[in-house]
Amino acid sequence: MDKLRIRGGVPLAGEVRISGAKNAALPIMCAALLSSKRLTLANMPRLMDVRTMARLLGQMGVEVRAEADGRMELEAARLGEPTAPYDLVKTMRAAVLVLGPLLARCGQARVSLPGGCAIGLRPVDQHVKGLQAMGATIAIEHGYMHASAQRLRGARIVMDMVTVTGTENLMMAATLAEGTTLIENAAREPEVVDLARCLLAMGARIDGAGSDVIRIDGVASLHGAQHTVMPDRIETGTYLAAAAATCGHVRLLGAAPDTLDATLEKLREAGARIAVRERTIEIQAPERPNAVSVRTAPYPGFATDMQAQFMALAAIAHGTAVITETIFENRFMHALELQRLGADIAIQGNSAVVRGVERLQGASVMATDLRASAGLVIAGLVAEGETVVDRIYHLDRGYEALEAKLGALGARIERFS
Ligand code: EPU
Repeated sequence: MDKLRIRGGVPLAGEVRISGAKNAALPIMCAALLSSKRLTLANMPRLMDVRTMARLLGQMGVEVRAEADGRMELEAARLGEPTAPYDLVKTMRAAVLVLGPLLARCGQARVSLPGGCAIGLRPVDQHVKGLQAMGATIAIEHGYMHASAQRLRGARIVMDMVTVTGTENLMMAATLAEGTTLIENAAREPEVVDLARCLLAMGARIDGAGSDVIRIDGVASLHGAQHTVMPDRIETGTYLAAAAATCGHVRLLGAAPDTLDATLEKLREAGARIAVRERTIEIQAPERPNAVSVRTAPYPGFATDMQAQFMALAAIAHGTAVITETIFENRFMHALELQRLGADIAIQGNSAVVRGVERLQGASVMATDLRASAGLVIAGLVAEGETVVDRIYHLDRGYEALEAKLGALGARIERFS
């Protein structure tokens, strides 16, 4: 199994190009199920999760062609078995995003329940409830959701909580439903907006994506389209946090600064100088960052997917930070690993009190999920001596060419088995 070896202490310097967003690419690939015509995508990130999604769609009969330049063509002219098996769903929860499109296009779907995962319980009851409101029958048998519907009907759906993939699943299903669907308390994440843009290009009628009420007027069919996937705001935030932690000076190219307000604000509070020009973000970090407290919240609040990286930053900051996680109930696993590197962290319920120390010391640590791994890499970049991060398959799921990009910024980082 691959590991990363990091020798810390080098301030990051130089330029890095941001990839397409994983969490936009995955739902957009699923949108291809809604039409028999070709969907051509650009700026697709080269990630394990994208390959897993391509495999899942391929099993259902979608023709998927991925090009080296980040283009991808998906054509679902004829669909076979509308099934997402447990093996795939358990490794990538986003596989549940096929449920809405399959049901809308084929009138049936069989999708494994994802089960719990490292960061929390993560039920899919809101996806189910919304589709039922649109007239679907969904039975849970042998760990699978068996869904069927003649044709989905538009409905008014009030979500109990803000859910990103829940909103995306229902929005996709509603594009082919009969009549109008209103999704209230919808997720406002930029990835939802990017998916809506792709669906609009395919001929869907959607209004309000990016606000908490989305209106979808169903159409009889969708056509082919071309779409460029938005830049990854979490990858961007991760490199910014790494630059801030290492006293670096980094320019990020091809980013979407307007999706990063909360992160940029917190980095400025930490003392970093940040300049934004169209699609470029430049960060110049201070000698040692100030401690900044964060509280995760749905967009436009501070992203839970940036929490681990900011805990690593707080670990070496000047002062004490309180990091509060409100989205997932178990997303502090990296705190114990950061302690192994010498961080001073006390967990109190859903808050972590982090007292910054002058320096961390390299050690062996274990990645538990994608963003936790990113936090550990950042800690490794500032720690004295050698840090080995185990289980980096988590990183490969969501960061394109991480060690190459960090290496180009001067980090001493290598992959080994
Ligand atoms: N929830 C329910 N019932 C549901 C759906 C969600 O109780 O039916 C709860 C969840 O358990 C959680 C909260 O609602 O406590 C929010 O979960 P959400 O559904 O928004 O999460 P998600 O859609 O499964 C996406 C991202 C995650 C990101 C979260 C929150 C994708 C593919 N994944 O997950 O990204 O953390 O939104 O922003 O878009 C990652 O990239 O590392 C990652 C985990």
